[in-house]
Amino acid sequence: MVKRKVILDCDPGHDDAIAIILAASKISNLKIEAITTVAGNVEVEKNTLNALKVCDIIGLENVPVAQGAERPLVKEREIAEEIHGETGLDGPVLPENPTKKAIDKHGVDVIIEKILSSDNDITLVPTGPLTNIALAMIKEPKIIPKIKEIVLMGGGTFGNWTPAAEFNIYVDAEAAKVVFESGVPISMFGLDVTHQAIATDDIVKELSEIDNPIADFVIELLKFFSETYKEVFGFAGPPIHDACTVAYLIDPSIFQMNHVRVDIETKGEFTYGMTVVDTLETTGKEPNVHFAYQLDSDKFWDLMTRGLKSYS
Ligand code: RIB
Ligand code: CA
Repeated sequence: MVKRKVILDCDPGHDDAIAIILAASKISNLKIEAITTVAGNVEVEKNTLNALKVCDIIGLENVPVAQGAERPLVKEREIAEEIHGETGLDGPVLPENPTKKAIDKHGVDVIIEKILSSDNDITLVPTGPLTNIALAMIKEPKIIPKIKEIVLMGGGTFGNWTPAAEFNIYVDAEAAKVVFESGVPISMFGLDVTHQAIATDDIVKELSEIDNPIADFVIELLKFFSETYKEVFGFAGPPIHDACTVAYLIDPSIFQMNHVRVDIETKGEFTYGMTVVDTLETTGKEPNVHFAYQLDSDKFWDLMTRGLKSYS
């Protein structure tokens, strides 16, 4: 199997961690070229530590982890401790310090160098705010035509951080605007579809029957993530937002997509960070996004189950 090259740009975060675990699983068709971290769920230093700890747990030794932007392009940093806890990966008991170390290079420079030296065959998979991706495009515009695709978690036709805006886009809407207007092919996994990937108690119970340490770790993540989503949003369980990007790359048939125009609001008093999805083509603008609107839940959880079982 020819593996598809990806760079995971993330803010682990419980669902980012699950996305990394699925991407590195034996059923994955992905070759992780690098993991870069960005300020998002918690401070970038903590997100980096969490990414390193996940790499330790799954034995991902040969993938470089590089720390990226510590704040958005324009706004002050905003974090989501109430969802992911003080560490950003609360729940599992983890060693304070990971064995793996981050490389001594900025995440933005890693993205630029990997893309410039590639055969235009690297897919960027951002599952946090888009600060690193925008900075890479601004610092070195030559990468723009060389990026194969951006498969991102963010946005939606409704919000979870404000009524209009989803967290990843809201934290750095200026960065999102740069990315969505770049012309790079984008596949967007927003709340419309990620809220169909809910890890209900029944699903967690089924996954907990998988007998290996990685599955056990994911169960610990889901138990904490579930508590916060039940408490904060009244959901039946946590949406595994970020894993939708990796699931799509492994098996696109899980998702229904349409090709639409999406613009980013950066000025609205009540709508800052909104992804303005032109479903009915009212703007006449050229579509710039493949927008996921439907997920086959049985296929998604079957993939997640096979991915976790592959660590046995
Ligand atoms: O709104 C959900 C997104 O925000 C997910 O990527 C989650 O990890 C947080 O980053
Ligand atoms: Ca995330």
